[in-house]
Amino acid sequence: MGEVILRPYQHALMGEIEVPGDKSVSHRSIILGSLANGVTKVTNFLDGEDCMRTINAFRAMGVTIHKEGSTITVDGKGVSSLKEPMEPLYFGNSGTTTRLMLGIISGLDFFTTVYGDESLSNRPMDRVVQPLRKMNASIDGRSDGKYLPISIRGKKLTGMDYSLPVKSAQVKSAILLAGLFAEGETTVTEKTQTRDHTENMLEAFGADISRNGLSTTVTGKNTLSASNVHVPGDISSAAFFLVAAAIVPDSKVTLKNVGLNETRTGIIDVLLDMGANIKIENQQTVSGELIGDITVCSSDLNGVTIEGDMIPRLIDEIPIIALLATQANGKTIIRDAEELRVKETDRIAAVVDVLSTLGGDIKGTDDGMIIVGKTTLSGGKVASYNDHRIAMMSAIASLVAKDDIVIDDASSISISYPTFFEHLQSIIS
Ligand code: S3P
Repeated sequence: MGEVILRPYQHALMGEIEVPGDKSVSHRSIILGSLANGVTKVTNFLDGEDCMRTINAFRAMGVTIHKEGSTITVDGKGVSSLKEPMEPLYFGNSGTTTRLMLGIISGLDFFTTVYGDESLSNRPMDRVVQPLRKMNASIDGRSDGKYLPISIRGKKLTGMDYSLPVKSAQVKSAILLAGLFAEGETTVTEKTQTRDHTENMLEAFGADISRNGLSTTVTGKNTLSASNVHVPGDISSAAFFLVAAAIVPDSKVTLKNVGLNETRTGIIDVLLDMGANIKIENQQTVSGELIGDITVCSSDLNGVTIEGDMIPRLIDEIPIIALLATQANGKTIIRDAEELRVKETDRIAAVVDVLSTLGGDIKGTDDGMIIVGKTTLSGGKVASYNDHRIAMMSAIASLVAKDDIVIDDASSISISYPTFFEHLQSIIS
């Protein structure tokens, strides 16, 4: 896609959008489908680059996976059917694929090497490597396994009790997945609740799993049974249009069939706290996950403070929340979000750079940012940092900017939302 020029747009947004499937749930559906016995049919799968990395990894280990658009069929034959891949596994930009797969591969009786693109090669992997080594995993890699490339010689793993030092669903999931095939029990305890899609799906696939507050235990005596998965719309993708409708005067936009798992709905709570006009309808539970339609109408907004337990519930939405804050009256403070420094890019630095280029009043802090609104944004040339969520935030900024916004390279958007520009076009009246 390369460079994209967005003309200023000062009209109301109207319409309905059905965002693509949730990225986190899509990855997990392929992983559990491949480990299970039987055929798993996945509908509304996210047809984005990151999720294809997970499909390709299991194909390389001998699993038959058919894909027709967003419908996937995984012909699971159980964990013992997985074969040593002939070549190193390439995980591209996908942190979720990498961290979850490290948990699985560590317990498989073969040799595997994994690597990724430049961004992924600079993201910390020691957060999963260290706990997996405590379970007897044999892992080596660049800087003693802190970074990709990483090689694993599969071993019989032993269960453990582990308190998560980082607020990360990827780390929690890696350990739980390793625990499925380890000797004895594996318990993971987190300080703050992070997204629990792995736990929900493990229950649906019949795993021996129990939850007690912030602790989750799995045993090593697991045989998973195939279970069909309907993937909810991704609230992290819907977030761009929820914010667009909230900040562009006279707008009304409905996002259909969006995942409303409580561990992910921080963006809705923040919008409500700021004074947004939001209605949620048609709630139902599908494949163990709550979904519903969200309608947002524009309104006057006020700055808020976002911190503590709220952060993991909206970690991926902080770039678009920062744009939202430039359109709210007063100060918005975001803290306890140091994890943003190790996402696809340093998202604190990237957001501050993009929004200050556009004339926003924003300052980075060690663990977040402070934004003062309301500002009229100018145009300008901005860098996407090859980060899908930074590129989409910049595109939404054009809806309230005075002049053209030029994004240097918007191709990363296909990581999580390949139909983003079509959907944006559809609500421009
Ligand atoms: C994810 C967990 C989060 C999130 C990422 C997807 C997952 O990462 O930012 O986009 O699917 O488990 P961390 O676990 O690093 O917080």
